[in-house]
Amino acid sequence: MTQPDWIDVGAADELAKRELQPIVARRARIALSFRGGEFSAISGVCNHVGGPLGEGTLDSDYVTCPWHFWKFHHRTGLGEPGFEEDAVPAFAVKVENGRVLVDIASATPRTRKPHPPHPLARDVQRAPGPIRVVGISTTVMHHDHPRYSTSDALLETAIAHAKTRGCEADIIYLRKLNFRHCEGYYSKSARACTWPCSITQMDPTDELDRVYEAFVHWADVILVTTPIRWGAASSLYFKMVERMNCIQNQETIADRQLLKNKATAFSIHGGQDNVQAVAGQMLGFFAEVGCQFPQFPYIAHSRGWSAEDMENNTRYVEESKELHDGARALVERTIDMAKLLVAGTIPEVAMVGGGRKGHQLDVKAQT
Ligand code: FES
Repeated sequence: MTQPDWIDVGAADELAKRELQPIVARRARIALSFRGGEFSAISGVCNHVGGPLGEGTLDSDYVTCPWHFWKFHHRTGLGEPGFEEDAVPAFAVKVENGRVLVDIASATPRTRKPHPPHPLARDVQRAPGPIRVVGISTTVMHHDHPRYSTSDALLETAIAHAKTRGCEADIIYLRKLNFRHCEGYYSKSARACTWPCSITQMDPTDELDRVYEAFVHWADVILVTTPIRWGAASSLYFKMVERMNCIQNQETIADRQLLKNKATAFSIHGGQDNVQAVAGQMLGFFAEVGCQFPQFPYIAHSRGWSAEDMENNTRYVEESKELHDGARALVERTIDMAKLLVAGTIPEVAMVGGGRKGHQLDVKAQT
C-alpha cells in the first residue's frame, strides 16, 4: 500500500478566501477548492489539452476549465454526467493546526473517455485528381432577396472558366454559412487555440468546417473575392480570417503547416477606392498562413472616391468584357501556379515556426 505523502500547501484561513485556486504541491499542479467549509483537491491539468483547472470557475460541484469549459467534480475529479470516464486525479486533503495538507500519494487514476478525432484532424494529404479550385465569396447581402454583386459576378466567371480548364471548382458563399466569431482562445494561451478550431470541435452547428475542409484538405487554388467596405475587405472576410488563427497557430506552436501547396489569388471590387490597402492585407494574411501566389495575384475594380452612382457601377461590371477576361486570366494563372506546386516543380519549404524562427528545416521536391 502506498504511504501517504502529505504536503503543506498553506494557511487554511488564507486559502479559504478563494473558492477555487491553482496551487503546486511539490511538483503536482492542483486545483484547490473550498466549498461548504471544506477543502478538496483535484489535478490542475485538464484532460482535454492541459488547460489550468485551478484558474477556472467552480460552478455548482464542478470545476470548469477556463479554456474550453470541460467540467470535473471538485471532490472526485470525475467528468460531468455522461463524461464520468473522463476523470482527472483527485487527492485527499486535511486541515491540521491551521494548515492545509494534500496527500499527493493518494491521487486517483486519470482516465480518458475515447473522443473520436474530428474529421478535419486527419493528415493533410492531397487526394489524386485534377486541380481543385475553391472560390470564397465574402460579400454580404439579404439571404432571401439577392442583389447583383460585382465581386460575386467576377468570381462566378472565374470559377466557370476553371471548369472549362478541366478543374473541379466550387464556390463557398460565406453569407450562407452559420459560423461564430473567433472567441480569442489564443488570447488565453497559444495551446488553447487548437486545430481543428476549438469552436469547430465544440459546436456541431458551426459551419466554418466547410471552409477549413476546402482550404486545408481539398483545394489547390483558393480564390477569395471581397467588396471594399470603408476602405477594407468585408466584415465577413475578417470574420473568416480571424477563425483561421488556428491554422497559423499550428505553425508557431507545432511547426505544422496545414496549408501546403496552395496557390491563392484575390478579386477586389468597390464603388470607392482603397484597392492597394485591401490587397496588401489579403496578401499579408495568406502569406502568413503559408500560401503561394502567382505573378500578379489580384484583379480589382473601383471607379473612385466620387463615384456614388452604384447603378452605373454594377452595369459597368456586368458589361465589361475586360473585367470578365481579367477574372478568367487570374484564375488561369493561379491554376498554372497550382500545377507547378502540385507537381513539385516549385519546392515545398517547411520553416520552423512558420518562418518566424529564422532557419530552414527542410527543402523537398527540388526540380
Ligand atoms: S477544456 Fe480544458 S483544455 Fe480544453
